[in-house]
Amino acid sequence: MSLKIKINENYQTVNKNYLFSEIAKRVAAYKNAKPDNSVISLGIGDVTRPLPPIVIEAMKKASDEMGDSKTFRGYAPEYGYDFLREAIADYYTKIGISLTANEIYASDGAKSDVGNIVDILGDNTILIPDPVYPVYLDSNLMSGRKVEFISGNMENGFLPTPENISEKPYVIYLCSPNNPTGAVYDEKKLKLWVDFATKTGSLIIYDAAYEAFIKEDYPHSIYKIPGARTCAVEICSFSKTAGFTGVRCAWSVFPDELTVGDTKLSALWARRQATKFNGIPYVVQRAAQAALTEEGLKQCRESIEYYLGNAKIIGDVLTEKGIKFTGGDNSPYLWLRCPNNMSSWEFFDFLLNEAELVGTPGAGFGKAGEGFFRLTSFGTRENTLIAAERLKTLL
Ligand code: MLT
Repeated sequence: MSLKIKINENYQTVNKNYLFSEIAKRVAAYKNAKPDNSVISLGIGDVTRPLPPIVIEAMKKASDEMGDSKTFRGYAPEYGYDFLREAIADYYTKIGISLTANEIYASDGAKSDVGNIVDILGDNTILIPDPVYPVYLDSNLMSGRKVEFISGNMENGFLPTPENISEKPYVIYLCSPNNPTGAVYDEKKLKLWVDFATKTGSLIIYDAAYEAFIKEDYPHSIYKIPGARTCAVEICSFSKTAGFTGVRCAWSVFPDELTVGDTKLSALWARRQATKFNGIPYVVQRAAQAALTEEGLKQCRESIEYYLGNAKIIGDVLTEKGIKFTGGDNSPYLWLRCPNNMSSWEFFDFLLNEAELVGTPGAGFGKAGEGFFRLTSFGTRENTLIAAERLKTLL
């Protein structure tokens, strides 16, 4: 018997499977058909390096505290313990940005925050760069929002700017270093967006999840740009910075000046989180705090250098083969044009079948991603070297 309730019909407007679920399904089918496979994944951006030792120590200590009635803790504060919010504020101080701990809202992931922020925003026009992390589009479609795209391409270095966009208020999503292209906004280009948002009363949702991979002189935070405090929320994560994909910890910054009329966006977010979220485990928050200490950052840096080393190994093969790509220098992702005019999914099948390598088809990141392909450097060194040899032979 069928239920007589109404469902959220907006879910009919998104692809049946989330991009990385679709890839996992296809890879599982391949492995099933060929049990002796030696598939290597350069697909989803999942880390492989173990957690930094200082993080492990902090987790052990916090676990012991949880096992002692004198130091046991129950529900964590919805927005994070003060010690973590302060550690994050200090992290910003190190890059010359002044925020108060109260402006920082810790959570269990940047993906959660990116998806959940739709809750506190009304029926705005959404402006999304294409190609980009699919959660921006999917979460807005699920809420029935109207979405417009700005195209990233070879000509603009996959860094679209607001020159030819009609001047009205939008909710704008930016990701820098960009997932999937690895392209990074410099201060000048980012300022164009901040100025546009200021002029039009738009909100920028700035995803800085990959900022720790920036080696050259690019902004690590949108708050480096004057005026950003009145128009931008920033979302950042421990996933890629500290290897927390399986631990889960992130944060969003809602500056005090971010208001709609008399309403602070931070007040809406606080209200949302208090209602729908019960905070991150104490053990995880202590782990995150440890990652942001001087020694913690040093240990995190070692893993980041390791991944960037992997990116160089892959990038060198692409260069040798004359395949154009972006990213890999200030980003863990390499974004390449599919050889021989293959479509993204054709190249996906070709790589999987001929070299047992998994990547991510560019078309999964938007229409402008068709004909492109993403490889991640988050594998082990050993697998990356094998993958590089296979690419050399195949391409
Ligand atoms: C990716 O591969 O794009 C990321 O791992 C996805 C994510 O961070 O959720």
